[in-house]
Amino acid sequence: MYRTHHCQQLRPSDIGQTVTLAGWVNSRRDHGGVIFIDLRDREGLTQVVFRPEEHPQVAEASHGLRSEDVIQVTGVVAARLAGSENGRLATGGIEVIASELKVLNKADVPPFPLDDPSVNEDLRLQYRYLDLRTARMLRNLRLRHRITKATRDYLDDAGFLEIETPILSNPTPEGARDFLVPSRLTPGSFYALPQAPQQYKQLLQVAGLEKYFQIARCFRDEDLRADRQPEFTQIDVEASFISDVEIQTLIEGLLARIFREAKGVEIPVPFPRMAYAEAMNRYGSDKPDTRFGMELVELADLFGESQFKVFRSVVDGGGVIKALNAKGAAALLSKEQLKKWEEWVKTEFGAKGLAYIKWSAGGEWESPIVKFFSDAEKAALAERMGFVEGDVLFFGADLKLEAVCVVLGRVRLRCAELLGLMAAAKEQLNFLWVVDFPLLAFSPEDNHWVAVHHPFTRPKAEDMALLDAGDFGKVRAVAYDVVLNGVELGGGSIRIHEKDLQARMFEVLGVTPEEQQLKFAHLLRAFSFGAPPHGGIALGLDRLVMLIVGAESIRDVIAFPKNNRGTDLMTHSPVEVDFKQLREIYIQSTAKKG
Ligand code: AMO
Ligand code: AMP
Repeated sequence: MYRTHHCQQLRPSDIGQTVTLAGWVNSRRDHGGVIFIDLRDREGLTQVVFRPEEHPQVAEASHGLRSEDVIQVTGVVAARLAGSENGRLATGGIEVIASELKVLNKADVPPFPLDDPSVNEDLRLQYRYLDLRTARMLRNLRLRHRITKATRDYLDDAGFLEIETPILSNPTPEGARDFLVPSRLTPGSFYALPQAPQQYKQLLQVAGLEKYFQIARCFRDEDLRADRQPEFTQIDVEASFISDVEIQTLIEGLLARIFREAKGVEIPVPFPRMAYAEAMNRYGSDKPDTRFGMELVELADLFGESQFKVFRSVVDGGGVIKALNAKGAAALLSKEQLKKWEEWVKTEFGAKGLAYIKWSAGGEWESPIVKFFSDAEKAALAERMGFVEGDVLFFGADLKLEAVCVVLGRVRLRCAELLGLMAAAKEQLNFLWVVDFPLLAFSPEDNHWVAVHHPFTRPKAEDMALLDAGDFGKVRAVAYDVVLNGVELGGGSIRIHEKDLQARMFEVLGVTPEEQQLKFAHLLRAFSFGAPPHGGIALGLDRLVMLIVGAESIRDVIAFPKNNRGTDLMTHSPVEVDFKQLREIYIQSTAKKG
C-alpha cells in the first residue's frame, strides 16, 4: 500500500496513529539539522518532520530531498508545538514524525517556481504537467469536473440521453473555417472535424430520440482570442416537441444547478429577456454587459437644424446620431488619448470618426465639434445626457443604425474598463437572454445573404410573410443567446423541420440545388420521413468554467490548450509529417518552412 491517508486528511484526533503518506516535496526547510517538509498530494499539504535524535538515518536521508521529489513517508502523527500550528492549513494542527522514508523518484530542478503567478505563460504551457500541479490549475480542473458532472446529472434527471456523434464528419456551417482530414481510403476526399454536432443532433430528433445531449468537442479554425480555442467543448442539447421558452427554462435550471454545485450561489431565474434590437440600441452589443449602465442615447431629434455638417447630413439622410456619457472619465482621458481612440474606431470598425466633448472639473467643454452647436443645442444635449463636470460624451453618427451601435458599444466597454466598472461588479452575475435575432444578414464581401445563427434556424412565424416578400433583413429568427456579464455563453434556436422550408432557406442563402444535393441531401431527405418539430442550444463549457473560476483566459480552464498561434507548446503540435505519410493520404505539401 502506497499510503494510508492523503495529505489533507489528518487532524488532531489522529494523533498517535502510525500513518503512511505519499506525494511530492512541496517545500523543505532546515531548522538546525531538523528537516521540515511540506508533503503535497492532490488533496493538500501535510508537514513531515525528520528528527535526527529519534531517527538518525532517516533524518540523514532527508537532507538530500529537493522540491518535487516523489516520496513515501511513514511516521507517527503528533501535535505541533504550541504556537507553531498553521491555521491556514486543514492539517495545520498536526505533523508526522518520519520514521521511514522512501524516495520513489528524484526530480530535476523545476524550470520555474511552481506557485509563482508571474511566470510567463509560454513557459508554463511548455511544462504544462508542472503548471497543472499548482493549486490554481488544480482548482480550475476540479471545478470543471464539478460543472460537467452537475450537467450530466441535471440533464439525466430531465430525461436526456447522452449520445456521441462522429468527429470525422462532414462540414457543417457555423461560420468558421473547417479543419480537414484527408481520407486514405477515398483518395482526394476529406472529412471535416465538426464545428458543432448541429446536423447530427437534428438527425437524432428525426430518429425519435427526443432528448439528446452531449459534452461535445468542437473544432473551428478561426483567429484565437482570450475566450476562443480551436478545439473547445460545448454542452450540446437538442429536443423534440419543445418551445423556445421551454428550452430557455431548461437551461436556466441547468445553470442554476451548476452555480449551486460549483460555486455555492443561488442565481435568480428566470433570466431577463431582451430583444436583439433593444440590446443593440441600448448597449451597442448582442451580448450586453448589463452590470453597468452607460447606455447609448438617441440624439438625432436634437440636431435637425445643426450647423455641424456631419450631424446635419446624417439627420437629413434619415440616419442615426447616438452618444454615451462616460461619467467621471474626463480626468482619465487626455486629448492625445482621445485622438488615439478616434484612430482605433476608424481602423478597427471603419467608423468615420469619434466626436467627443470632455468637461474637466472647473473647466470648459473641450471638443472638436461644440463650436458648431447653438446654445439651445448645447442645453438640450446636456440635459438629455445628464452631462456634468467630470464627464466625457462620445458621439457616433451614421446612416446605418448598426454601424453607430457597434462602434459606441465598443467605446462603452472601453470606458467601463477605464473606469473600473467591470472590476467593481466582479461578484455580480448578470444573466440575460437575448432573443429575436435577425435570421439573415447581408454580407457585402460575399454579396449574398448569410445566416446570422446557422442555416437550420427557424424564421419567426409572424415574419414568414417578410421572407416570402424578399424583405430578408427584417425577418427575425426563433433564436436566443444566453449572456453572462457580457460574454456569450451559448446560443440556440428552434429549427426548420420541413423539407421545403429548409430548401427555401438554402436558396435564400445562395446554396444552389446542386450544392444542396451535394452537401445537405441527407438532411433534406431525413426531413421527408417524419421529422418532429425540434430545437436546442449549445453552451460553451470552457467559457462557463472560465467565468465561474474567474479566469482571465480560456487556457486556464483547459488541461492542454493551444496558444494564440494554435500551437501546443508542450508537444509542438502541429508538426511536419514526412513525405511517405503524406503520400499515403494523397497529399502534396506546398508549404515553405519557417
Ligand atoms: P455557437 O456557434 O453559438 O452555436 O456556439 C455555441 C457556444 O460555443 C462557444 N464557442 C466557443 N468557445 C470557445 N472557443 C471557440 N472557438 C468557440 N466558439 C463557440 C460559445 C458559443 O456561445 N450548433 C450551434 C448551437 C445550436 O444552434 O444549438 C452552435 O454551435 O460560448
Ligand atoms: P471632421 O468634420 O471630419 O473634422 O470631424 C470633426 C469631429 O467629428 C472629429 O472629432 C471626428 O472624429 C468627428 N466625426 C466625424 N464624423 C463622425 C461620425 N460619423 N460619427 C462621429 N463622429 C464623427
